[in-house]
Amino acid sequence: MARPGTSPDPSHAGGAPPAPQHVAIIMDGNGRWAKAKGLPRTAGHERGVEALRRTVEAAGELGIQYLTVFSFSTENWRRPADEVNVLFGLLKAYVQRDLARLKDDGVRIRVIGQREGLPADIASLVDRAEAETAGNSRFFLTIAFNYGSRNEILRAAQAYAASIAGNPQAEPLSEAAFSRFLDTREIPDPDLVIRTSGEYRISNFLLWQAAYAELLFVDVLWPDFNREHLESAISRYHERERRFGTVGPGGT
Ligand code: IPE
Ligand code: IPE
Ligand code: MG
Repeated sequence: MARPGTSPDPSHAGGAPPAPQHVAIIMDGNGRWAKAKGLPRTAGHERGVEALRRTVEAAGELGIQYLTVFSFSTENWRRPADEVNVLFGLLKAYVQRDLARLKDDGVRIRVIGQREGLPADIASLVDRAEAETAGNSRFFLTIAFNYGSRNEILRAAQAYAASIAGNPQAEPLSEAAFSRFLDTREIPDPDLVIRTSGEYRISNFLLWQAAYAELLFVDVLWPDFNREHLESAISRYHERERRFGTVGPGGT
C-alpha cells in the first residue's frame, strides 16, 4: 500500500486547493448492500471492512491528514446480538490484521467512544493499537467504536465536574477547555462529514465537533465506496463556501 500521507495527489502541485485536513465518514449501508445481493447483512459488514481499507489508503494519497470513521454507535447495541458480535469480531480482525502495516506506514490509530462495556479482549487490543502507534504522526486514523456524541459529551461533563470538585478557584469553563474533556481532544474538528447510503442524518456522530463541518450525503452504499467517491466528495467540498458565521467574500 502507498503510505498514507506520503504521496499527495500530484494535481495539487498545479495549484489545486489542498484536501480538507480532516474528513469524517458515517459508513452506512452495509445491510442494504448485502440485501440487494441476497446475502446476509454480515456479508455487507465484511465488505465494509474492505471499503475502509481502500479509504484509508486513498485518504492518505489524496493529502487528507485525519480520517475519522463511524464504525459502531452506542445505539447499535439495539441490533440482534449475532450482528453485534460480528461487528465486534470484524473490528478485532481489522486491528489484528492491519496494525503492523498501519504502524509501519506512520498511521496513528485512535479509538473514540466509551471504552467501558467493550469486551476485555477488544479493549486491550484497542489499547495496544493506540500505544503501538502513539509515536506516529503521518496520518491519523480515528475509529469511533461504541461511540455516541451524547454519551461522549456526558462523559466529558462528568470528567470536568470531577476535575473541579472541591476547587472553588476553578476557571470558568470555556468551549476550548471543555473540548479537552472530549474523546477527540487531540484531533482537530472535521472539515467534511460524509454519510453514505442516502440517509440524511447525523445519527449521534460528532455533534460538538461538526458544528461547522461541511456535510455531504451520498447515495453510494458503504461497501461500494472507493477512491473515486472520495475524490468526488473532496471536489464537492471545494465548491462550498465556509463562512463560520461571517459574511461571504466582498461582504455578500
Ligand atoms: C453500517 O451499515 C454499519 C453499521 C451501522 C454498524 P448498516 O448495518 O447500518 O447498513 P444498513 O443501514 O442497514 O443498510
Ligand atoms: C450510523 O449508522 C452508525 C454507524 C455508521 C456506525 P446507523 O445505520 O446505525 O444509523 P441509523 O440507525 O440509520 O440512524
Ligand atoms: Mg444503517
